[in-house]
Amino acid sequence: MEEQQKSSHVVLVMVTFQGHINAALQLATILHSKGFSITIVHLEFHSPNPSNYPEFTFVSIPDNLTESQLSDKDIPGLVRRVNKNCAAPLQQCLEKILHSHHHISAVIYDSFMFCAQPIVDNLGLPGVTLCTHSALGLLFHHVFPQLNEKDCISGLESPELQALQLQGFHALSSQNLTEAGMEVGAAFANALKSSSAIIVNSMEFLELEVLSKIKQYLPTPIFIVGPLHKLAPTMCNSLCTEDNKCISWLNKQAPKSVIYVSFGSIVNIDKQELIEIAWGLSNSKQPFLWVARPSMDRGSEWTESLLNGLEESVGERGFIVKWAPQKEVLAHAAVGGFWSHCGWNSTIESICEGVPMICRPFFGDQILNASYICNVWKIGLELQNLERGNIERTIKRLMVDMEGNYIRKRAMDLKEKAAFYLMEDGSTSCSFDGLAKHISSV
Ligand code: UDX
Repeated sequence: MEEQQKSSHVVLVMVTFQGHINAALQLATILHSKGFSITIVHLEFHSPNPSNYPEFTFVSIPDNLTESQLSDKDIPGLVRRVNKNCAAPLQQCLEKILHSHHHISAVIYDSFMFCAQPIVDNLGLPGVTLCTHSALGLLFHHVFPQLNEKDCISGLESPELQALQLQGFHALSSQNLTEAGMEVGAAFANALKSSSAIIVNSMEFLELEVLSKIKQYLPTPIFIVGPLHKLAPTMCNSLCTEDNKCISWLNKQAPKSVIYVSFGSIVNIDKQELIEIAWGLSNSKQPFLWVARPSMDRGSEWTESLLNGLEESVGERGFIVKWAPQKEVLAHAAVGGFWSHCGWNSTIESICEGVPMICRPFFGDQILNASYICNVWKIGLELQNLERGNIERTIKRLMVDMEGNYIRKRAMDLKEKAAFYLMEDGSTSCSFDGLAKHISSV
């Protein structure tokens, strides 16, 4: 099989949002180590740096997106536009690759790039979906829209999971009922029907019940290959420059005293919310490290002056950066909590380091992840609204109160399980062997 894989060529089609880039490049790195040659097809915006991966071939396709479209809060609308704009260039690109390489073993595409599936069907190539979200996100998108609520709930044995599904279902359904949301959801589900396999960046023990539920509905083989960041950890894929000064600042803080605050790479935050966050952090009296991305509020001067004022008023107790080396931060002994938007990468990175969380999801799968964190694994507290008093109380509950100690203990237990899962023979390595075999044989 090793010989066969040496000549196998995988094309990986990715969307260039930070959370999606990380998972795609990590997956590509592992497949390359198993003997596959790799071509990465990516959009023009947020191009990854090819010099970090000299062993891969990078091809960019035009996306025709404007700056204002890219900073749009309507993510389903943006995803719909990306798929409309990129379908024809992707088809041409794959045809060109086919002509020059003669052979493509499989096209692995990010689940946000669902336009790839009908294209590969036409070209007679196997398509494989890469989910950078949880298996629960997969269940929601591909199974729940076809069922009524009663069916969803009655089929789940665990009370925690019932509550989770109900809560997530309501919150997500109301968000997805926009025209773009419905269209994207339907296209997502359709692509899956002819996909030859699904790859999920998760760990089986985290989502056992959900996985068995998915298998009831979807005959497609599923490969659970996470946590990718632990399996291919070496290369930095950040689109922004990481500010390493925060590590020197963390080195001066007491163990488990710092609350790390980051809302990933896509979330936009409005002016009033920023004011509440700043006051909440200031009033909590807790040391904090806050990632305030310039694109979070479209880089306004007003925010700059708010952040300068906050730094002045809290002095050494707070540190604000534009982008942090997040995995290093979460692994740092001084970090005792993570206030997160609950993107799936952030969630899984936090679990692997045993850091308990404060959850303030904004949209999409973040809502499901937050519900998992607070109700199923019970390693976090939900922040109901972005109001300064509420923020201050929630930070104290996690960082100072006895309640926080119990949550931290559960987070550490989950970290141990993750470490054990990674060491175990036959879990992830078996999934990767199965995936490699699948790709080589389709
Ligand atoms: C998006 C979606 O929002 C998320 O819900 C989905 O599951 C994946 O795609 P994003 O919002 O950026 O991603 O969040 P997340 O999934 O958490 O990914 C962010 C990545 O950026 C993480 O890998 C994190 O380590 C990294 N990061 C974030 C940094 O390296 N530095 C930072 O300062 C902030």
